[in-house]
Amino acid sequence: MIAIDFNNINELIRVLNFQGKEQEELWLTARNIRNNTIGNKVYLRGLIEFSNICRKNCLYCGIRSGNTNVKRYRLSIDEIMECVDFIWNKNIPSIVLQSGELINDEFKEYLINTIKTIKAKYPKIIITLSSGEFDYNFYKLLKDIGIDRYLLRIETSNPDFYSKIHPSDHIFEVRKQCLFDMQKANYQVGTGNMIGIPNQTDLDIINDLKFFINGKFDMFGLGPYIIHTETPLATKENINWWNKNKEVILNKTLNFIAMLRIATPTVNIATATALDVISPNGRTNALKAGANVIMPSITPISNKQNYLLYQNKPNVDDERTTIIAQMENKIKKADMIPAYGEVG
Ligand code: 5AD
Ligand code: SF4
Repeated sequence: MIAIDFNNINELIRVLNFQGKEQEELWLTARNIRNNTIGNKVYLRGLIEFSNICRKNCLYCGIRSGNTNVKRYRLSIDEIMECVDFIWNKNIPSIVLQSGELINDEFKEYLINTIKTIKAKYPKIIITLSSGEFDYNFYKLLKDIGIDRYLLRIETSNPDFYSKIHPSDHIFEVRKQCLFDMQKANYQVGTGNMIGIPNQTDLDIINDLKFFINGKFDMFGLGPYIIHTETPLATKENINWWNKNKEVILNKTLNFIAMLRIATPTVNIATATALDVISPNGRTNALKAGANVIMPSITPISNKQNYLLYQNKPNVDDERTTIIAQMENKIKKADMIPAYGEVG
């Protein structure tokens, strides 16, 4: 077991970069803490990527509004219900609805109808929404009609760095306020960051860790930054840098998960799909480092190919049953048990 002084920035930066034996010890400490508090179960969430239409233009993201190569789609409510039926019949009572961000009335109405339809058929299903920034009143309305949890990554807790990876009309303070608004509306709130964005410093990453620990969040979903060539962040220089550093990025991400588990033993920490882009063992290792949630994508294959936030996304051609079998395999490899029938 290792002990970490969470007030010592230099020590935290050192731990973030652990490799070899020290890293093994870090992960072991994290998973012991997890197993002794919440247990060694992995909670499954069926991920439905229901729309890739986004009004935002984040400089790192493949489905940013400025990328005209993307074929845009939005699932109909019937198509979403087909996904929900599948996942419910697999004894997975928890879904994550994820999409690009839109705030027009037509989209809001569609969201409301979708949620009401799901809840009418499956009153006990737990729905996590991840559709970006809204105002307090709309978050409250969504909560009242049955959304239980909301995921909104802060992306980075450094306002200056935030402004370097977003256009100027994407406002850090607004995003942060959204997280507070959700907490006020009594959601279980999740946030997260990306690790390994060009020019992000280790201090930035450690400050994200502090932001997460101090923010009283219920869940975290964080992952490595992956280059998408059709984005402004993918300059020649950045592509070279990323390719040279991707192993380091993966290690930092896994160590970050372990540190987060040690600091916040009982929260839900998800294994990001992006982890498997850098190594096929990425998500398995995240479980070994303390994560406890996995989100198999049940988005229809034809749509999934158009929901590419980053390149080389795993499982885009795989059938849902194949994906769930793969998740079970990862869970087993991490010496954990899939928690079917439970929401965690
Ligand atoms: N690499 C990794 N993660 C990304 N996201 C967006 N673009 C990328 C990328 N290129 C993440 C963001 C967003 C989440 C839905 O996907 O953190 O919040
Ligand atoms: Fe839209 Fe989210 Fe991509 Fe930003 S990261 S462009 S908000 S889908």
